[in-house]
Amino acid sequence: MVDEERNEMVVTPWEVRGKVDYERLIREFGTQPLTTELIQRIAKFTGKVHLQLRRGLFFSHRDLDVVLDLYEKGTKFVLYTGRGPSGPVHLGHLVPWIFTKHLQDHFKTRLYFQMTDDEKFLVKDDLELEEATNFAYENALDLIALGFKPENTFIIYDVQDIDLLYDLALKVAKRITFSTARATFGFQESTNIGWVFWPAIQAAPCFIHAKLTGENVPALIPAAIDQDPYWRITRDVAPKLGYYKPAQIHCRLLPGLGVGGKMSASEPETCIFTTDPPDIVKRKVWGAFTGGKPTVAEQRRMGGDPSICTVFQYFLFMFEEDDEKLAERERQCRAGEVLCGECKKELTDRINSFLEDHRRKREKARNIIDKFHIKR
Ligand code: TYM
Repeated sequence: MVDEERNEMVVTPWEVRGKVDYERLIREFGTQPLTTELIQRIAKFTGKVHLQLRRGLFFSHRDLDVVLDLYEKGTKFVLYTGRGPSGPVHLGHLVPWIFTKHLQDHFKTRLYFQMTDDEKFLVKDDLELEEATNFAYENALDLIALGFKPENTFIIYDVQDIDLLYDLALKVAKRITFSTARATFGFQESTNIGWVFWPAIQAAPCFIHAKLTGENVPALIPAAIDQDPYWRITRDVAPKLGYYKPAQIHCRLLPGLGVGGKMSASEPETCIFTTDPPDIVKRKVWGAFTGGKPTVAEQRRMGGDPSICTVFQYFLFMFEEDDEKLAERERQCRAGEVLCGECKKELTDRINSFLEDHRRKREKARNIIDKFHIKR
């Protein structure tokens, strides 16, 4: 949604700025809040409630209840998510992928994963097509490093695999008017025509499973809320093509290390890439915006404010599994018992040890990447 004038918040698939008001996005995007009841229904199949559900990081959905109803009656679903490869992967991208893996493990479903080198080429003025395609393979290594298995994970590289998507995209595109696309995505007179058509390509994988296997089952899409405009138009078209409306489960955006907005590669100093070496991670975390007071004495006396602290958000999203320890960190911060420097040091160590392990797995993934290609 583009609404800069009223309160600065901008959330579109290509840009997120300002303080994101998630309640307002639910209202304005017309999605449903993720209720405790739905979380419990997921937990029936997954056992323990995943950290990202427990902490409200996934907060909204469309038709998750429908997908669960069908699943309980014996109709499976497939998972679908993706990446726009315009550079290296950052920690924010891993958030929905980690949750996707959790769902895949417990619901035993296929995952279709789209690498949109075409999208990024069309949208980014300074990106060559060959660069985007190269990033697509590099980014696939990050996905594989999270432990996905080739038996049930199918990566689609748009430019290379367009023959699989093109007929579906055409059928979608014919049913979306320019006026709907403009209202949904904010296209301008100056928008290139490739970009105007492109949303049909992101819609196509919602139906690829039916096309490839003849099995008409719904797709469930775990992704951050920024991708939602695509699903609005796809859901309108799906029944006209004889498919289920794709369902979504939306997560919040891991913030950047600066003030407001999401972690975004366009602000590299506030963004941690999986390829960042330890000293760079240290420098970036050291420069993070926190909820601390200007002086140690003030912080000891008045405490900090974890609710506005980006460092605390990183513990919340990914780097503190234990809920009690997280609550204790919050308490100590408010009481002035812990200083920002201590939290930053601990976070740096945790990120670096995660990334060290991730990079080892990422390098190993080079040997098996072909096994994940949809056309293997
Ligand atoms: P992209 O590359 O912008 O983002 C990839 C995935 O990461 C999510 N994401 C984030 N999640 C949490 N915190 C953040 N700071 C953050 N930044 C990005 C995005 O929501 C996305 O799930 N057009 C898409 C590629 C795509 C896709 C899809 C994404 C194609 N098909 C289906 C999701 C589902 C894109 O450019 O994603």
